[in-house]
Amino acid sequence: RTKRTAISAEPVQHKKSKDLRIVLQACDKSDRTKEFLRDAILNNDFMKNLALDQIMLIVDCMHPLEHTKDNLIIIEGDVGNLVYIMEEGMVEVSKNKKVLTTIGPGRVFGELAILYNCTRTASIKALSNCKLWAVDRQTFQAIMMRAGMEKRSEHLELIKNIKTFENLREDILSKVVDTFDEVRYTNGAYIIRQGAKGDTFYIVAKGRAQITKASSKWDTPIYDRHLERGESFGEAALQSEETRPFNVIADDPNGVTCLVLDRQSYREIVADELSRLRREESCKYARKNTTFISGEDERDL
Ligand code: CMP
Repeated sequence: RTKRTAISAEPVQHKKSKDLRIVLQACDKSDRTKEFLRDAILNNDFMKNLALDQIMLIVDCMHPLEHTKDNLIIIEGDVGNLVYIMEEGMVEVSKNKKVLTTIGPGRVFGELAILYNCTRTASIKALSNCKLWAVDRQTFQAIMMRAGMEKRSEHLELIKNIKTFENLREDILSKVVDTFDEVRYTNGAYIIRQGAKGDTFYIVAKGRAQITKASSKWDTPIYDRHLERGESFGEAALQSEETRPFNVIADDPNGVTCLVLDRQSYREIVADELSRLRREESCKYARKNTTFISGEDERDL
């Protein structure tokens, strides 16, 4: 274990992690320790919603460190570089010199400055000798970014396979993928409702949804079919306000995730590009035809 003797504990990391090629350094630990660290993260309000594979990568990269009684582990207002999990010992959290609470084993601290890119929101002092685990900002952000990039390329594949977007240049597609919002629906939730007005287009990214349809306002909607990952609906809403022609209802115990694009964003990015492509095509066609008509030599008659 590394002995830390500094008064303020943190090696300040000024360089923001933009380098995605960072090599993640795993630190050996027992399965029991891994479970302990995983559970600590799952019990933290700000980190519990991270994907489990992200949590396990963070756990793998955590390294042990110690602080002696009375060490100031975190100073309010500092830039901050580490997220900690307490294994043994007790720390005191204070803000503006007022003690807020104490933190013991199995708890995460120092996560806020790293998650929200802000300065330390409170000071943390060791009330006893402490055994801690820590992960640095650069590693933490690289794990977040790696997961983000994997998700982005998955979304890109889905979008590329939709007819509306199939002929777009890579750089435009790249803008489009960032414009889509990812929205999660719980099982049974209405994603769109028949008869309602809408200006959004949807691609199913995860889970299944069912289409139901009523023949009139007074009839009960009946099952039509299921929509699976990669299928889309609401295309008409990208051109003008759509009166939804059916209901789409999340039908998956794990919920449904959709990629959602609104007409305004579609117009700004995609429609402009499509009309440019069309203009280019008609110019090419016109040029070709002009050559044909005026270029006597090229006539093949
Ligand atoms: P961070 O802001 O990075 O550094 C100080 C840490 O103190 C903070 O993350 C939280 O982990 C913790 N903290 C801040 N405010 C409170 C609070 N009111 N109760 C418990 N912990 C806190």
